[in-house]
Formats: sequence, structure tokens, C-alpha cells
Amino acid sequence: MPSIKEILKTSSQKLKGMEQSPYKVASILLAESLHVETLWLLTHEDEVIEAPIEFLDNIKKAQEFCPIEYLLKKCSFYSRDFYVDERVLIPRPETELLIDEVIRFCKDLKEPTIAEIGTGSGIISILLAQLLPKAKIIATDISKDALEVAKINAKKHGVQERIEFVNCNLLDKVEEKIDILVSNPPYIKRGEVLEKNLSYEPNLALFAGVLGDEILKDIIDISIKKKVRYLACEMGYDQKDKIINYLKKHNMKVKFYKDLAGLDRGFILPLNPSDFA
Ligand SMILES: C[S@@+](CC[C@H](N)C(=O)[O-])C[C@H]1O[C@@H](n2cnc3c(N)ncnc32)[C@H](O)[C@@H]1O
Repeated sequence: MPSIKEILKTSSQKLKGMEQSPYKVASILLAESLHVETLWLLTHEDEVIEAPIEFLDNIKKAQEFCPIEYLLKKCSFYSRDFYVDERVLIPRPETELLIDEVIRFCKDLKEPTIAEIGTGSGIISILLAQLLPKAKIIATDISKDALEVAKINAKKHGVQERIEFVNCNLLDKVEEKIDILVSNPPYIKRGEVLEKNLSYEPNLALFAGVLGDEILKDIIDISIKKKVRYLACEMGYDQKDKIINYLKKHNMKVKFYKDLAGLDRGFILPLNPSDFA
């Protein structure tokens, strides 16, 4: 039988060419299937074991570019652990900035009603429920499957009573007056060829229409129609000009923010200009 060191060497060779460090990925997967910490593998690297079948299966899937988060059924976001599977988008670190933008605006509001369009795994609404204990939160998604995952996460983080989950297109079934609207919607052009690992994520979470900005524009229209006070929305790094042009017809001011890579990543729309200090 091989040692832990040998198992990790052979399997990381199979993962060569991956974006992440193959050795690190192999170690995380082996540690998970043995129910130990990765550090334990290091301190027991000469121990001889039979490679668990679950680990060997996961290495095969990783070779086929399946994201490690789907293999582990978890991911980290805003320093918290969330359950994920192929029914939802894997949360991206840049979405943490969207939450920061909302918190910045909300800190002076007493009991805001916040709606999220396209909650997916629930990360945004769950974090907002935790960070803004007095806020009322409504989270929609067009995908029933995604809402099941969001509910698992809301329960895991103890905020299931604080969030109303609604299965609908955009805000179609939401009647309440909304103070803050937040969304990380699909914003990729339909038909765009993506990297292989993205093919595991739900199309509904990635693709909008043929131009890519259709849902972003719908969300702007909804926030105007519903007289939302503040809209915070993530977008593609190359969509700033499209948003500026679209807002020209409404003669509205907009603030853009960048992600940690310095790319344009989202916009903030105070529908009440006095909020735009
Ligand atoms: C980019 S994912 C974002 C998921 C999660 N909020 C996040 O930031 O990780 C977009 C989500 O919007 C949902 N969605 C797509 N079209 C929608 C629509 N017309 N109305 C409501 N939700 C929609 C998808 O099912 C998906 O869960």
C-alpha cells in the first residue's frame, strides 16, 4: 500500500494544469475523505493507507475540471462556511464588496426592508440578516432548486426566520415597499464560451440574454418603478459604459465600485439624490 506522501504525489500529478495548486487540491480532498485536517496529512505523510474510494472519485472529477467547492459541498464566503452544490453559483470573493456597500448605506436606517434578486446559495441575504439584525429581508430566485440551497444555508446560520424566500422572476411576487434592492444577477452574454470549470455552474446563474445586460437593466427599471431608495448591483467588468448609457435616459447619478483586482465590478444607485453624499 502507498504512503500518504505517495498518494498525494500521484494524485497531484493527475491534476497538473489546474488553476489552483494541484498538491493543495489533492491534500484538501484527501483530508476531507479521511475526516482529518490537512496538517495531519503532513505530520503523518509516511503512514501507509488505502486511498479512500471517495477521494479517488473526487480526483477523477477534479481532472474533469469540476470545482473543488462542489466536490467538498462547501465554500467559504465572508469568513463563514456555506453549503453549495451544482444547483447554485459558487460564491465569489468580489461579492463580499457588494455586501459592504449595502452595510455602509444601511447603518443609519432603522428597520430597512431589503430585497435581493437572485439569491442563489443565499449568501448575500444571510450575511445581511446577520449584520443588520433589524432589517427585514426578502430573497427571490427564479430557480426552486437554488432556493432549497439558500434555505439550507439560512438554517445553518440561524437566520431562517429572518428571510422570506420567494420563488419568482425578479420581484414579480413581491408587493412590499422596498428600501434597498441588492443583486448579483446573471450578466454574461448568452452563447459566450466559458472556461470548462464554469460549465458545472447553473446556466440560469450565469447567462442573461444575448447582450448580457438585460437583467441588469430590468433591475434598474424595477428599482425606479418601486421607488427603491438604494440599489446595489454587481455587474461584469466590461459593463460600466452600458450602465452609464442606460441611466442617461433616466438622468440619474450612479457610483461604480471596483473589485480587488481593480476591475469595475458593481454600481450603486441612490434613487433619492440626497442620499448621494
Ligand atoms: C449570479 S447568481 C448569484 C447567486 C448569489 N446571489 C451570489 O451572489 O452568489 C444569479 C442568481 O439569479 C437567479 N436568477 C436568474 N434569473 C433570475 C430572474 N429572472 N429572477 C430571479 N432570479 C433569477 C439564478 O437562479 C441565480 O441563483
